[in-house]
Amino acid sequence: MARPRLIAAASAGLAACALVFQLGLGAQAPDIEQHINALIARMTLDEKFGQLQQLDGHADGRNREEHFDLVRKGLLGSTLNVRGAENVNALQKAALEESRLKIPVVFAFDVIHGYRTVFPIPLGETASWDPEAAERAAAIAAAESRAAGLQWTFAPMVDIARDARWGRIAEGAGEDPWLGSVFAAARVRGFQGTNMAAPDRIAATAKHWVAYGAAEGGRDYAATDMSEHALRSIYFPPFKAAVDAGVATFMSAFNDLNGVPTSSNPFTLTTVLREEWKWDGLVVSDYKSVVETINHGLARDEADAARQALPAGVDMEMISRTYVTHGPALVKAGEIPVPVVDEAVRRALRLKYRVGLFDRPYADPALEPATLLKPEFRAAARDIAARSMVLLEHDGRTLPIKEGNRRIALVGPFGDNRDEMMGNWTGDGRREDVVTLKEGLEAALPGAQVTVARGADLDVKMLWPGGAGDAAGAAALRDEAVAAAREADLVVLTLGESGAMSGEAASRTSLDLPPFQRELAEAIFALKKPTAVVLFTGRPLALGWLKAAAPAMLLAWFPGTEAGHAVADVLTGRVNPQGKLPVTFPRHVGQVPIYYSHKATGRPPAADDKYTSKYIDAEWTPLYPFGYGLSYTTFELSDLRVSAASIPSTGSVTVSATVRNAGAVKGTEVVQFYVRDVAASVTRPVQELRGFTRVTLEPGESRRVEFTAGPKELGFLDRDLKWRVEPGEFRVRVSQSSEGGLTGAFEVR
Ligand code: BGC
Repeated sequence: MARPRLIAAASAGLAACALVFQLGLGAQAPDIEQHINALIARMTLDEKFGQLQQLDGHADGRNREEHFDLVRKGLLGSTLNVRGAENVNALQKAALEESRLKIPVVFAFDVIHGYRTVFPIPLGETASWDPEAAERAAAIAAAESRAAGLQWTFAPMVDIARDARWGRIAEGAGEDPWLGSVFAAARVRGFQGTNMAAPDRIAATAKHWVAYGAAEGGRDYAATDMSEHALRSIYFPPFKAAVDAGVATFMSAFNDLNGVPTSSNPFTLTTVLREEWKWDGLVVSDYKSVVETINHGLARDEADAARQALPAGVDMEMISRTYVTHGPALVKAGEIPVPVVDEAVRRALRLKYRVGLFDRPYADPALEPATLLKPEFRAAARDIAARSMVLLEHDGRTLPIKEGNRRIALVGPFGDNRDEMMGNWTGDGRREDVVTLKEGLEAALPGAQVTVARGADLDVKMLWPGGAGDAAGAAALRDEAVAAAREADLVVLTLGESGAMSGEAASRTSLDLPPFQRELAEAIFALKKPTAVVLFTGRPLALGWLKAAAPAMLLAWFPGTEAGHAVADVLTGRVNPQGKLPVTFPRHVGQVPIYYSHKATGRPPAADDKYTSKYIDAEWTPLYPFGYGLSYTTFELSDLRVSAASIPSTGSVTVSATVRNAGAVKGTEVVQFYVRDVAASVTRPVQELRGFTRVTLEPGESRRVEFTAGPKELGFLDRDLKWRVEPGEFRVRVSQSSEGGLTGAFEVR
């Protein structure tokens, strides 16, 4: 953990001088914890609760007038949304020059996939299966955020999500705890670096603690109810990975968990986080989630909400004001013990130390314009966006686009659309910074003539019953698109959801395309022109008809600021597609939750046996499995070897295979490693990802890849929730997705 330079601080910022003066510190700076305790000893109850309050500024980054007054009185410890060096410094000045204790304010913001330079949505970025790319994106986001006066982001979201109806699936790393843990750690490292006080780093937040992604019916904010075994095996691991990576803060969630709302749940917030994991960071509530415990039916009133949430382990309250309003009286009445309040305050102050606020409380206004949207940041965004795209269909002819295509019809609602390239949670991303697909194609293919036809409207309101608008208008748009396509050598057909159709409070009951897009696509396919589909979405869509009809299809997610260049890079083959799905794509919405690491059941599905686990009206298999993604080349796996036929339960085996680029162009394959424990005291999933590696190969080149299977890869939580490796047969798979590949086996004795 970063330690503040307190001696330097004595001559550094105003705040530090004031603090050192007030605490009577000598040249020998004592430990941070002693500073914090000394400060707490001087605080009134009101000031203590003030440190536990977070309020939001205006959406555009400006302060609210009220906040100046609260800060002067010591009644506000943190804000969200306030950003920009000038805004931040103005409020900070009030804290440092006009409040009694001169404790700096910590400024937070939802920097989810970029601050000004916007990267692909997190689900898309995870499709790169490249944790270094995620780390780089987070590091750039941190540098920009810091320059804009922020010290804290509410990211990464590390909720496992297995239900595509849930719009927030877009914000996380998908369905798998192993992949999710790797990306959680990478993103925390990216935001925080090794010293979150550095001028280009910020504190991260692991959210939403916990099981928020398992909302019943995929309906945002709905309750979750699950076994402790599932909670610990599936939903905890990415959070634990964030803790192990040194994450500074957690956010408690909105959902009810097994009858106790997660923003007032002593088991998850205190037993697990503090007692088991020994974590000393700060827990901030989600937006009003403390006061919402009244709606949940847990708290009787606001005072009761505070009385339960703070001792349960929510340190800082976002937006609602139950702590500041009722906290002091509750303490005086003996309803909240003083040490509980002090511990929460200690965590809030610790965060401020760790991000360096006592040392450097002000933002440097010159740094902001010099840092935002640097050319190298844009270049990284382009590279990472291209890596995140998944080639879903490839007939070997349509893509990559060849030079000879003189006339390209860019058909569909995303072709020349600056607003829909960044997806949800766009930080301070600006539409004017965005490269459209039209611009990207024109830059990549200077000899081509790109004609744009919107083809269909795109508005989140169209999803609402009766909101699709008039069929005649849709037909006119379609006719215009068909006319443009008829004149072209090649059609690039953009389809998908708008950014507002996924993200928070954007759950869906259907996984179809928005209205009129299927009609548009079918009219275009009927022309029998070479057609490449580019799909934009924040969630898996159930598009069996499109899979059957599209000669080529590239899943672009929401690529961010450099969208147009990145899509063009992949369409033209400048970058060979290398993304793999971090989440299963179903055939039908009725299959969700569908995920590759499901349990076997007593009656595994069999086509010729009715009484097995399946559907009578559809196939049980996914449309595209987890881990799936094509390339412009092909890869072959061969020669699987398992280093030992039998190992002790504390031992490990090495599983290796040869991967060869069997095609004509250079490419990158993500080789995946899955494990199955065949019989165990708690039934195990049919397979679980336990490793992956990215391999870049020239045509004809081959390489050995190696995976280790030891206690970490082979163990599981037994009936007593203890981690153990049990004797018996283990099967392994080395493959290009969660289906197919090479298989082997060994024994644990
Ligand atoms: C979301 C959080 C977010 C917070 C602050 C909430 O509605 O659930 O993910 O960090 O708002 O903007």
